[in-house]
Amino acid sequence: MNDMIRITGGIPLKGEVRVSGAKNAATKELVAALLTSEPVTLKNVPEIGDVDVTMEMLQGLGAKVERTGDTVTVDASGMNTSSVTDAFSKKNRIPILLFGPLLSRFGKAEIPALGGCKIGQRPVDFHTDALRSMGAKIDCSNGEYIATVPEGGRLHGTVIELPFPSVGATENVMLAAVLAKGTTVIKNAAIEPEIHDLAMLLQSMGAIIQLDVNRTWIIEGVESLHGATHRVIPDRIEAASFAIAAVLTKGDVTIRGARQEHMLSLLNNLRRVGGEFEILEDGIRAFRTGDIKSATVETDVHPGFMTDWQQPFLILLTQAHGVSIVHETVYENRFGYTEALRKMGANIQIQTACLGSKDCRYKNRNHPHSAVIVGPTPLKAADIEIPDLRAGFSYLVAALIAEGTSTITGVEIIKRGYENIVGKLKELGAKVEG
Ligand code: EPZ
Repeated sequence: MNDMIRITGGIPLKGEVRVSGAKNAATKELVAALLTSEPVTLKNVPEIGDVDVTMEMLQGLGAKVERTGDTVTVDASGMNTSSVTDAFSKKNRIPILLFGPLLSRFGKAEIPALGGCKIGQRPVDFHTDALRSMGAKIDCSNGEYIATVPEGGRLHGTVIELPFPSVGATENVMLAAVLAKGTTVIKNAAIEPEIHDLAMLLQSMGAIIQLDVNRTWIIEGVESLHGATHRVIPDRIEAASFAIAAVLTKGDVTIRGARQEHMLSLLNNLRRVGGEFEILEDGIRAFRTGDIKSATVETDVHPGFMTDWQQPFLILLTQAHGVSIVHETVYENRFGYTEALRKMGANIQIQTACLGSKDCRYKNRNHPHSAVIVGPTPLKAADIEIPDLRAGFSYLVAALIAEGTSTITGVEIIKRGYENIVGKLKELGAKVEG
């Protein structure tokens, strides 16, 4: 597979693109399918690297996993091991979510060291603390986890208050709580649309799960779950990426499948800086009305501005008149990718202070988590290596407006999360090879 993309900038993106199913819902839902020995069918599953790795991991545990087009069926009746092999170590962050399914099926879980994008420390203490409070015994050495259930063979419900509304920790507790004894309450939980989608699948499988006020999920454990069919929500990160690219390139793109309710904050910010959009029955049309204006954007947990929208949006801000700020409050170190943009001509400084209107948990902790962008600066083509998934897409977006031909390597990382990215960009008229 070609690990390089060449993009010649200067062409407005025009036309229609269909957004694929959400990576960060589909991968978790594949894991949820292990909670029952009946078949679970997922539709709208994207063909991306992270889904492939997750499917292989389930097969490695003895589940039968079959894909036909965008439909994947998991039959976990033949699961035969509680151990995720080292082959899946450091590939992505999905193995940590296997505690619940493995503990409920085998009373034991062996999970190898995690991978995923290098965008900060990314500890999993919230996950392990929460599962321990549900009765799991968890040992960790060299990044590998071995967990067992308490005497009696089942985890028990409890009240868990997460220190931060972590997406992964919320999902992990959910996957463990649906088959635990009694009721589990997750306070200060994540409520991202992908988590709602997971909750909907679990409910279809027989779980009793509800979202209460103040970021609280309440899950009443049941004795067993059954098979179900579920359609994965569209990927709001991919949808946002195309909307931003349309505005940036002075194009006009209809993003079929994009959902306004998942993207309120992105759309507000797009409009503030001079982008425009039209809400259609089956998607969103994004286009440009005038010059790009500077703005202050602060990332946050849902319903705030997603940390995964920050990277392409920052490229947009390099073309804004004046000084813009991006305050990253979810990850402590997610601006490493801006170095390559400076090479392309962008004027970006990274600071450790909380710039913007809110103090975040990184205040006075010397983390490089605020960006100051002065624009507009024309970008010139460069040879760049992709450091992580979302930064990778933002490099493609930067190359789309840069003067000349950019060579972008490490494209394998983008393919972990974006389906047919080269084909989709070509359809929109971009001059891209790869
Ligand atoms: C999910 O990561 C997504 N990944 C990320 O998308 C996304 O950026 C992130 O949620 C936030 O929306 C997947 O869904 C596979 P978190 P996750 O737990 O679950 C800290 C992409 O490109 N934290 O919500 O790992 C953590 O370090 C990826 O698709 C702890 O301190 O994110 C971070 O600062 C990149 N201890 C913050 O919380 C813990 O035990 C949020 O992390 C857990 C998290």
